[in-house]
Amino acid sequence: MAAKEKQILCIGLVCLDIINVVDKFPVEDTDTRCISQRWQRGGNASNSCTVLSILGAPCGFMGSLAPGRVSDFICDDLRRYGIDVTVIVHAESSLPASIVISNINNGLRTILHTNRNLPDVTAKDFGKIDLTRYKWIHWEGRNASEQIAMMEQVEQYNANVPVEQRITTSVEIEKTREELYQLFRHGDVVFVSKDIARHFGYNSASEAVKGLYSRVKPGAYLICAWAEEGADAMGPDGVFHSNAFPPKRLVDTLGAGDTFNAAVIFAFCNGKSIQEALTFGCQIAGKKCGIQGYDGIV
Ligand code: ADP
Ligand code: FRU
Repeated sequence: MAAKEKQILCIGLVCLDIINVVDKFPVEDTDTRCISQRWQRGGNASNSCTVLSILGAPCGFMGSLAPGRVSDFICDDLRRYGIDVTVIVHAESSLPASIVISNINNGLRTILHTNRNLPDVTAKDFGKIDLTRYKWIHWEGRNASEQIAMMEQVEQYNANVPVEQRITTSVEIEKTREELYQLFRHGDVVFVSKDIARHFGYNSASEAVKGLYSRVKPGAYLICAWAEEGADAMGPDGVFHSNAFPPKRLVDTLGAGDTFNAAVIFAFCNGKSIQEALTFGCQIAGKKCGIQGYDGIV
């Protein structure tokens, strides 16, 4: 019997997105009727899993949940996409949620997020999973010190298995929080956001990857996506760029970055080069921007 194909595991947030589609951003203290309103499973790592699953990759999600009806909605939806789930349930916490205003005329999304008290996955939780099931592990940068301890567990594991069984690691550094910057040094692939790039004084993805490259570990790829400008990368073999692939009409950019990350990881897992992975990431993310949600990116 063929061995079960190894999974890509994404660790980070799952939350509820209540998406309000409008054709004009509302004015404060007015009463607006939306074009449509929907519940959607959200959170960066969870969105990347959705995309991986649609692309056809066996994948798993690891994150925290609080029990209740919203959690049931989320678990049903993860199941619907065939995503393997490892959740740590916190009975005393409430589930994070976002109110999203999504403007159908320009695709722009405005997010109001709340996360009152849901703890993130710890290195101890991570220590209980069976690493032999995974070929790639992706972390959405959150509780950085704990996440570094998880990455060290993977490094130890990798040191004790044959090369072909080693797990590749990636990390996303999105929010401008000092604690997260220690994550640059970890991960074979590091995704850094436009916000962080700007925070460090860079005005393009190309400037950012060159300027921040000294922070990543030797041999790693640093990747920066920049909305309609596409994305750039730097690695031991040089610098790379892909233009964006804008859809005919920008409809919904919520989760474009999560889609990009998933598509890049998917391409790498399928033996593609950094240039091919960047281009594929921009193609799939561009497609996503032309539709509501994620169904229909391929
Ligand atoms: P996010 O803000 O969701 O993190 P980014 O702005 O970093 O996402 O964009 C990720 C990728 O999505 C970009 O590299 C690009 O390929 C695609 N993308 C995002 N916005 C647009 C846009 N307006 N037009 C075309 N492609 C876009
Ligand atoms: C999109 C997203 C949403 C979520 C928000 C959390 O990237 O993950 O699904 O509501 O960001 O910051």
